[in-house]
Amino acid sequence: MSPETTQDLVARLAARLGPGGLLTDASDVAPFAIDWRHLFPGRPACVARPANTAEVADVVRLCREAGAAIVPQGGNTGLAGGAVPDGSGTQVVVSLARMNAIRAVDPVGLTLTAEAGCVLKTAQDAAAAANRLLPVSFAAEGSAMVGGVIATNAGGLNVVRYGMTRANVLGLEVVLGDGSVVDGLRALRKDNAGYDWKQLFIGSEGTLGLVTAAVLRLAARPRHVATALLAVPDPAAALRLFTLAQDELGDAIQAFELISGLSLDLVARHGGPRNPLGPADWYVLIEAASSLPALREAAEGVLATALEREDAVDGVIAESGQQAAGLWALREGITEAEAKEGRGVKHDVSVPIAAIPDFLAAAGRALAEQLPGARANAFGHMGDGNIHYNVLAAPDQPGETINHVVHGVVDAFGGSISAEHGIGQYRVAELVRHRRPAEIALARRVKAALDPEGLLNPGKVLGRE
Ligand code: MLT
Ligand code: ZN
Repeated sequence: MSPETTQDLVARLAARLGPGGLLTDASDVAPFAIDWRHLFPGRPACVARPANTAEVADVVRLCREAGAAIVPQGGNTGLAGGAVPDGSGTQVVVSLARMNAIRAVDPVGLTLTAEAGCVLKTAQDAAAAANRLLPVSFAAEGSAMVGGVIATNAGGLNVVRYGMTRANVLGLEVVLGDGSVVDGLRALRKDNAGYDWKQLFIGSEGTLGLVTAAVLRLAARPRHVATALLAVPDPAAALRLFTLAQDELGDAIQAFELISGLSLDLVARHGGPRNPLGPADWYVLIEAASSLPALREAAEGVLATALEREDAVDGVIAESGQQAAGLWALREGITEAEAKEGRGVKHDVSVPIAAIPDFLAAAGRALAEQLPGARANAFGHMGDGNIHYNVLAAPDQPGETINHVVHGVVDAFGGSISAEHGIGQYRVAELVRHRRPAEIALARRVKAALDPEGLLNPGKVLGRE
């Protein structure tokens, strides 16, 4: 794109979007130009801030006419660099932040309809005000926006009970790459009429279309919550604890997180809360919730049995909501603490749940043999088979080599190299290495059908052709 075409496009966008609808000053666009981890600095032509779906459609049309690429962005809290532009100075970031309305909450039909720019926490609060639960939840929920959560099919802390974002989307409105709007904002539990096209856009990271609004599924809001932190001797004990919790608490389990001792040390070292239990190599954070009054007793029973079987060496059950929030602050502080600690090479992998102890042992061995001195910090959503196997490495240990070592072990266990964060820019090469050629070819056919000119978030997920 020539500088003149870019300038002309910026002028057209400014005229269409009006005051407040377009950012061009370097200091205004700076926050939209780089990802949360500061790994992928870019330079957009401008940041468009449409206020409604018709404006999004016109932005897409104007960009297409000019041959400019479009990079949709929500809260920009993703960890894979999927929402930021490249350094060409020609890509248009489309921030959905101004489209932040909650259009409807239906406590009987258990649905909430929100626009893409609605902050996840705001949507959760609206559901709570109607005594219902919006179960998608993760550390960045105070900044992440509904559109981005859907575009990345975010996972998080409650997947073990409620599934990934995909399982919580009933209807979608999207703007396609040609500027047409597809309104599928149906609030139906059952809708088996033809292709379920919304699934294509959930998790597509803005490469197939722009999510502008969604109908989300709500759940009953459990009256009682039991949150416990347990110190466990090793991951095998954590796995036995998972089975015990399944047997005793059933589907009341809404989070089952494995946390390394190193994670909690990092949280404490970098200004976070202190671990209330004694030092241990591993911890498990379990949360169960139910409206049935026997929950607390059942949770105490699980803790007592775990201690008796020596699958836990210490444990605490929160006595109040405040104490529970304190335990969660330990878990949710890990990512920020890791970022402050220095260089961390992230991995967001999944393996079959029962294989987690063997996977951790094998990955530890592979690291020790092939990357001496690198430290693994493993934590994550054990109940989903999802481990963040983050490697704190020396500057001369190349990220690519670290990825190959860890993902090689993941392959050996039949796992996935991205359980919940998506691919963005960070894992493009690894996706192509680890998915079967027929799967990549199929994905490219879908991309070509929906974005033949390659203007939607180019370079993300499948990379450049
Ligand atoms: C989390 O579960 O806290 C994040 O998804 C993990 C990460 O920062 O790697
Ligand atoms: Zn996670």
